[in-house]
Amino acid sequence: MMMDKLKETAAFLKEKTGFNPAIGIVLGSGLGGLVDEIDIKHRLPYKEIPNFLASTVEGHAGQLIFGELSGKQVMAMQGRFHYYEGYPMEKVTFPIRVMRLMGVHTLFVSNAAGGLNPAFEVGDLMIIRDHINMFPENPLRGPNIDELGTRFPEMSETYCRELIGKAKQIAIKNKIKFQSGVYIGSPGPTLETPAEYKMFRILGADSTGMSTVPEVIVARHAGMRVFGISVITNLSEPSEMDKPTTHEEVQNVAGAAASKMTQLFKELIREM
Ligand code: HPA
Repeated sequence: MMMDKLKETAAFLKEKTGFNPAIGIVLGSGLGGLVDEIDIKHRLPYKEIPNFLASTVEGHAGQLIFGELSGKQVMAMQGRFHYYEGYPMEKVTFPIRVMRLMGVHTLFVSNAAGGLNPAFEVGDLMIIRDHINMFPENPLRGPNIDELGTRFPEMSETYCRELIGKAKQIAIKNKIKFQSGVYIGSPGPTLETPAEYKMFRILGADSTGMSTVPEVIVARHAGMRVFGISVITNLSEPSEMDKPTTHEEVQNVAGAAASKMTQLFKELIREM
C-alpha cells in the first residue's frame, strides 16, 4: 500500500530529524548551490531513506537536506528522481508526498530548462506561470489516494499567483533579471530536435525540460502551494556559432545562474 510506505518514510524522517517543516524545496540539475545557504541540521543520502531510490544522474547529489533558510525550517531535495531514469511515476513523485506528510504546505521547485521563447537568453531565470504535461502518463493515474486529495484535481492556479507576484516584486527590488512563462515537461532523455522545439513553442511553451510537471501535479493533488523557477541553460534556436546542447553545458550554466535563483527563493521564504 502506497499510503503505508509514505507514512513509514515520513515517520522515519520525523524520528531522525525532529523536523516539521512547512517549506519543501526541489533543486534541479546543477542548482544544488542553494544548499550552501541552508543552515544544515541533517543530511540524509537517499539510499539511507526507506522507500527512496538512489538518483543516477551526474550532478544530482541525491540527498535530503533538513535545515533553516531565512530563519525557517525547510526540507530540500538535492537531486530528484527523473522519469527517464526508468522510475515509475509513483517513485518519481514519492518524495513530494513524503514532504506533505512531514507538514510541507508550500513547495519550491526548480529545473534547468531549454529556452523556447526567442526573447530569452542563456542564464535567464523564468518564473513558471503554468505548465503543459507532455509525459506519456499522469502521476495520479490509478486508484486515487483519498487521504491525500481528490480524484479530479483542479488545475486553474497550479502555480500560486500570490507567490509569483511577491517573487516579481523581490526580483525588481533586488535587480534580478527575470522572465515568466509556461514550462513544458517531456520525458527525455533526448534533448529536442529542432522540429520538436518548434512544436513546443507552437503549443504555447516558453521553456522545456524533463522534470517538475509530475512533482507539481502530485503537490497540487495534496493541496500544496507551488512556486517554480526554470533556469534557462540553452536556447532552442542557437545562433549559427553555438554548439549543440550537452549535459555538461546545462550543468555549467545552471551553476552560474543558481545564485540569482537562490537569492529569490531566500527572500520569498523570508517573507512567508
Ligand atoms: N530540453 C530538455 N531538457 C532540458 C533542456 C532542453 O533543451 N535544457 C535543459 N534541460
